[in-house]
Amino acid sequence: MNILITGSAGFIGFSLAKHILDLNKKHRIYGIDALNSYYSIKLKKKRIDILKKYRKFKFKKFDMSNKKLLEKNFKNIKIDLVINLAAQAGVRYSLTNPEDYVYSNQLGFFNILNFCKKRKIKLIYASSSSVYGEYKKFPTKEWQSLNPKNIYSATKMGNEIFAEIFSNFYNLEIIGLRFFTVYGEWGRPDMFLLKYLQSASQNKKFILYNKGNYYRDFTYIVDAIKLIEPIIFLKKNYFKKHEIFNVCSNRPIKMSKVCEKLQKLAKHKKLISQKKNDLDVFKTHGSNLKLSKFSKKLKFTTFDKALKQTFEWFRNHKDLL
Ligand SMILES: NC(=O)c1ccc[n+]([C@@H]2O[C@H](COP(=O)([O-])OP(=O)(O)OC[C@H]3O[C@@H](n4cnc5c(N)ncnc54)[C@H](O)[C@@H]3O)[C@@H](O)[C@H]2O)c1
Repeated sequence: MNILITGSAGFIGFSLAKHILDLNKKHRIYGIDALNSYYSIKLKKKRIDILKKYRKFKFKKFDMSNKKLLEKNFKNIKIDLVINLAAQAGVRYSLTNPEDYVYSNQLGFFNILNFCKKRKIKLIYASSSSVYGEYKKFPTKEWQSLNPKNIYSATKMGNEIFAEIFSNFYNLEIIGLRFFTVYGEWGRPDMFLLKYLQSASQNKKFILYNKGNYYRDFTYIVDAIKLIEPIIFLKKNYFKKHEIFNVCSNRPIKMSKVCEKLQKLAKHKKLISQKKNDLDVFKTHGSNLKLSKFSKKLKFTTFDKALKQTFEWFRNHKDLL
């Protein structure tokens, strides 16, 4: 299968591309990424260097919001599946840089939809748990109503609406994945765990909002990939239309508890407590029943084991961050 993965220099795009290349030598992956400077370009380049060691991986650096470049770069290349993981991620940054979200997540995604429409290609794309907003009933299921609280999640909800319309009008098979706080080796330096470890290694104070009194459904990257792998390899037109899945571990953890574990691992205790940040919802906790039906008896990695592995990775790679 020839798979186009957007955002292949990013955390999930890189991890998924590497997993597929390791899995089966038959699959060819075309990775694209704009290598933007939202976080360390050194880290993004290192991920691409690793992928480039595989003969079946080809990388093209360009921005998917540029429709002409998208068409030109794949003019004579047969693509069987597009996995769209490129996006402007991060909730906090969307407060100060909303245009980046409209540009990549809306215009970029629209180009990807059109690309798939013209060629009748199956599309899998990243949405986010943040589309649910503040919830009181857990675990959250895919059919529950959406209530985005910020520009980032609004663009992700927009993606879902566009995907639904394209799927209905043009008979396209499109699958949306609502990721819940994915973490692990090669993770994102703008997210809680690596941010904490970075402050620890630089002996800086770490800001903990609301005394850590909020919960996140942390999903280890290895488990997230095992959850979505079967969906990637289902025969074309299995779903026929637009389907959405939560990608989560169904195990929310209180952030003060996560902090305690990090303090023990990194031997760093400098915390500044700040009041609740309005951008943070109190709890994310998704049901993964719909997606886990496809992966036979998946055993999730324990949080302690995955955290240790993340910490080990950080110790050996902190110069990249
Ligand atoms: N990591 C998580 O916990 C999480 C949670 C919910 C949703 N998501 C979503 O999953 C997807 C992957 O997330 P990630 O954690 O790997 O993020 P990431 O920031 O590590 O990866 C995104 C990549 O996309 C690239 N990119 C951005 N705009 C682009 C454009 N216009 N053209 C080409 N490349 C562009 C960036 O350079 C980056 O390398 C994103 O859509 C994100 O919103 C992630």
